[in-house]
Amino acid sequence: MINVLVVGGGAREHVLAAACAASPRAGRVLVAPGNPGAAEVATCFPVPTGDTAGLMRLCREEEVDLVVVGPEEPLAAGLSDLLREKGYLVFGPGRAASAVEASKAWAKAFMARHGIPTAGYRAFSCVREACRYVSSHPLPLVVKADGLAAGKGVVVARDQATALAAVERLMVEEALGRAGRTVLIEEYLEGEELSVLAITDGETIVMAPAAQDHKRAGDGDVGPNTGGMGAYSPVPQCPQAWTHDIRLRIIEPAVAGLAAEGLPYRGVLYAGLMVTKTGAKVLEFNARFGDPEAQVVLPRYSGDVLELLWETASGRLHRLRPAWSPLSMVCVVMASGGYPGSYRRGLPITGVEAAAATGARVYHAGTAHGDGGLVTAGGRVLSVVGHGPELADAVSQAYRGVEKISFAGAHYRRDIAGRALAYPGG
Ligand SMILES: Nc1ncnc2c1ncn2[C@@H]1O[C@H](COP(=O)(O)OP(=O)(O)O)[C@@H](O)[C@H]1O
Ligand SMILES: [Mg+2]
Repeated sequence: MINVLVVGGGAREHVLAAACAASPRAGRVLVAPGNPGAAEVATCFPVPTGDTAGLMRLCREEEVDLVVVGPEEPLAAGLSDLLREKGYLVFGPGRAASAVEASKAWAKAFMARHGIPTAGYRAFSCVREACRYVSSHPLPLVVKADGLAAGKGVVVARDQATALAAVERLMVEEALGRAGRTVLIEEYLEGEELSVLAITDGETIVMAPAAQDHKRAGDGDVGPNTGGMGAYSPVPQCPQAWTHDIRLRIIEPAVAGLAAEGLPYRGVLYAGLMVTKTGAKVLEFNARFGDPEAQVVLPRYSGDVLELLWETASGRLHRLRPAWSPLSMVCVVMASGGYPGSYRRGLPITGVEAAAATGARVYHAGTAHGDGGLVTAGGRVLSVVGHGPELADAVSQAYRGVEKISFAGAHYRRDIAGRALAYPGG
């Protein structure tokens, strides 16, 4: 029996904990800090993801065997390294390899070293040089903070004033602190955006089926970038041939490149891609499961998810014969009014049980127990996931679930998977 600790408190961690709890090999399933939804399938401990000493103590006291690190911050802070030093098995790369996500400038240089296709770019740490470059660059262009920014570090600029304002905000106002000290200015890529998650122990690669995320706050991909407003999988616009090409030209060279540079990698390598007319190019790498991609990809794994995580962490992924279900899954994120800007907390939430009764699965993110029941406690509040033989079935089930749930100011996109449904054969 495996005692597993899932680190994190979002819907991604709720779905991870639920998948682990469903395993016949599961001993105790713990989540830190978790949320009220995760507490229905696991035991939650109020240890924040940044409290390394607290997490180490929890592992010792609760006799944890395997730690699955959900979010990027503890990975970048080196939590996996410290745990491994103490002999725990960990799903999630160490600090050095987490640079694929934690420093976009490092990731770009890494991709250049290994011939991995990505957008043309230059990195700047001098504001005057950055501004001069913006003035000479064709539009649109993309301004990116180097460091971790929780989805707030990227501006796609269609005019120079927007681009210059973004540079100013990052480098002069230091709106994101250290994360924006170095800024990347990137060529704008056009095409179909895809999220491809590759699970790897540093050698063997298990490709998960592609998913598509919806980054922008509003229907039709307008408004500010968010942590993600919804996702779906499979992606009918992405034929099998693309997946094969992505594996050969992007994932395999990346995994081999990390190994060659002495950066052991056990976890998920997530490639955010733009499939352009000249093939797939990397927008960024993440060092963890995406949220909301995890909600639509993990439940499609046909085997035992805990075993997948365990064998990855043990470096024995070659022993698995992974398979994925053809089921379609659609996730709609219900967010607080105002998100990704400022929003109120503590607003009563009703209808979660009624939503679950429709067959939709409800994963918690920004929720808490209030005096009279469940209340809002974050920007992204709930992930409502529908499934079915076709995407259209999954879409209907997800929205039937969403319509049962209410809290003041709730907002969600009404067009999740819309691109796929409009696609011939989708
Ligand atoms: N070079 C690019 N061309 C076009 N769109 C881009 C480009 N880079 C990023 N984007 C858009 O901006 C979003 C956020 O960029 P990304 O690099 O994934 O940063 P992060 O997820 O850290 O905010 C992407 O999901 C994509 O929609
Ligand atoms: Mg991204």
